[in-house]
Order: sequence, then C-alpha cells, then structure tokens
Amino acid sequence: MKILQFGQTGQVATAVQAAAKAAGVEVVALSRADCDLEHPEAIRAAILGADCDLVLNTAAFTQVDPAEAQPDAAFAVNAMAPGAMAETCAARGLPFVHLSTDAVFDGLADRAYVETDEARPINVYGRSKLAGEHAVLFYPRAVVLRISWVFSRYGRNYVSFMLRLAREREVLKVVADQFGTPTDGEALASFLIATAPRWAAAPAGDPAFGLFHFANAGETSRFEFARAAIDRDPQVRARVEPTTQAAFAEPAPRPPRTPLDTSKLQTVFGFTPELWRPAVERTADRLISLV
Ligand SMILES: NC(=O)c1ccc[n+]([C@@H]2O[C@H](COP(=O)([O-])OP(=O)(O)OC[C@H]3O[C@@H](n4cnc5c(N)ncnc54)[C@H](OP(=O)(O)O)[C@@H]3O)[C@@H](O)[C@H]2O)c1
Repeated sequence: MKILQFGQTGQVATAVQAAAKAAGVEVVALSRADCDLEHPEAIRAAILGADCDLVLNTAAFTQVDPAEAQPDAAFAVNAMAPGAMAETCAARGLPFVHLSTDAVFDGLADRAYVETDEARPINVYGRSKLAGEHAVLFYPRAVVLRISWVFSRYGRNYVSFMLRLAREREVLKVVADQFGTPTDGEALASFLIATAPRWAAAPAGDPAFGLFHFANAGETSRFEFARAAIDRDPQVRARVEPTTQAAFAEPAPRPPRTPLDTSKLQTVFGFTPELWRPAVERTADRLISLV
C-alpha cells in the first residue's frame, strides 16, 4: 500500500506519517516546498508522477482569522487545490481522500449535524472548505471526512496550546459558549491508514466513497475541552475561568454549536468512536510527559 500525501508538517499530516510507520505503510508526504497548493499545475504533476495506490490531502489554509483577509489564497488552497487533486486522481483511476470541517455549518441546529444537513458556512474558511467539498465530491472515487476540533500529540493544536497557556498565565479565560465534538487526530490517522486498502480496492459506487463525519463521541464546550486537558497537569499555574466568544474580538465569526453525528461512519466502516474525554486526557498525559 503506497500513499501520496499532500501536507508534511501539519498536525494531521504528522499523525498520519506516524500511524503509517507503525503499520508498515509507505507514505510519501509532500511539503509546501515540494508542492505549493496555490499552483494547480504542480499538484497535477505530483499526482501524475507518483507511484501510489491512493492520494490523501491533509494540507489546507487552516487559519480561520487570516482567511477573512486572504479569501483568494483560502479558496485557492481549500477549494481549487483539492478540486485539481480529485480531477487528476480520477484521470489516473486513483481514489482520493480529503479532509473538511464542522465550520461548513452555521452552528444554529439543536442537534448534532448529519452529512445530509444543509451546510451554511458563516466565515471565509468555512465557505472555502465547502467549495472544496463540492469540487472533490463531483468525482465518484472520492472521500471527504469532516472533522472538528482536532487534537493530538503533534503540531499546533488546542490541547497543546491550552496546556502551554495554563503554565504561562495567572488567569486563563476560555470560551464556554461554543460547543462541538473534539477529534482525536491519532485515531483519525489510524483510521485513514487502516481504511486505505479498502478505498484502493473499492469501485465507483461503493458506500466507502462520499461524505462522512469523523469525530469522537459526545459533545462539549471549548471550556470543558480545555479543562479536561489542563486538569491532568500537576504544574498548572493558571486559574481557568469561563468567558464568551463575544469577548474575543476576532475577525472571523465562529459557529456556536457544531457537534458532528458519526452514525454514517459507524454504519459503513464499523468504526466506533471513543468518548472525547478519555482521548483528551490520554493525549494531555502524553504531552505533559514530554515537557
Ligand atoms: N485542526 C483542526 O482543529 C481542524 C478542524 C477541522 C478540520 N480540519 C481540517 O483538517 C485538515 C488538517 O488540518 P491540520 O490541523 O493538520 O492543519 P495544520 O496543522 O494547520 O496543517 C496545515 C498544513 O497545510 C500546509 N499548507 C498550507 N498552505 C499550503 C500551501 N499553499 N501549499 C502547501 N501546503 C500548504 C501547511 O504547510 P506549512 O507547514 O508549510 O504551513 C501544513 O502542513 C485540514 O483540511 C483542515 O481544514 C482541521
């Protein structure tokens, strides 16, 4: 099993490379220097020249606030680039796996979102990611996994960030009125590596292709998410206090409540997500033991 991966240094990119190494799967991961996603011709050349069974895209313009000021770059990387990847994969007969986000929703529903719910993004990042989904899902052997609030031992993420701030600050104010489902990036990486042979073998029309939600089980607030990690650290300094989203004057609006329902994923792949809290605590313990 050989995978061509766009993205080398990002959080999910790093987790997938670690999971692949553990499973003995070959992943060739392309950095921004290897292939800049703002150049579709470089994307096509990379895929046409690759010796692989599947293409995975972990790279994206992920900075939600800068995206408001740079919509052209956000759409180039999050919409046009995955579209070019999916198109070139289809031309070569390769399956293509892409990652999207809960930020395609407006966050106003009173229950967890399913794949058939209407996506109504409220910021540039969400709109660019939704455009990417449409561009990718035009092709029959394509997969889009929507994930949310990703944490892991790797890269910059909410858990590592909160653990650092809780050691540095006297008071740490955390948003308590934003709700969602954290996603264990290492569980995601293991799932991607374990499922790659199925996608590689599946014909067009197989239920393994299409749109899926992937997240841990349960729903929580940003505040409880942070607390679950910080409470594991005996060297924590900060007093953790709840605040509101409105108290942070950020350029991009955030959807208030975007939990993802993973029933379709469970039915099609037989994958049972772990509850979010033990996964966060395990990751926090590992990160704390490293410092
Ligand atoms: N993190 C989350 O909470 C979260 C939530 C929902 C969905 N997602 C989705 O999950 C996926 C992975 O996210 P992540 O957390 O791993 O993101 P990340 O840590 O921010 O990594 C993003 C990666 O994209 C690369 N990249 C950005 N612009 C590029 C360009 N023009 N050309 C080539 N590479 C470029 C970055 O390269 P450099 O290192 O060179 O900048 C980096 O390797 C993305 O599709 C994201 O939208 C993430």
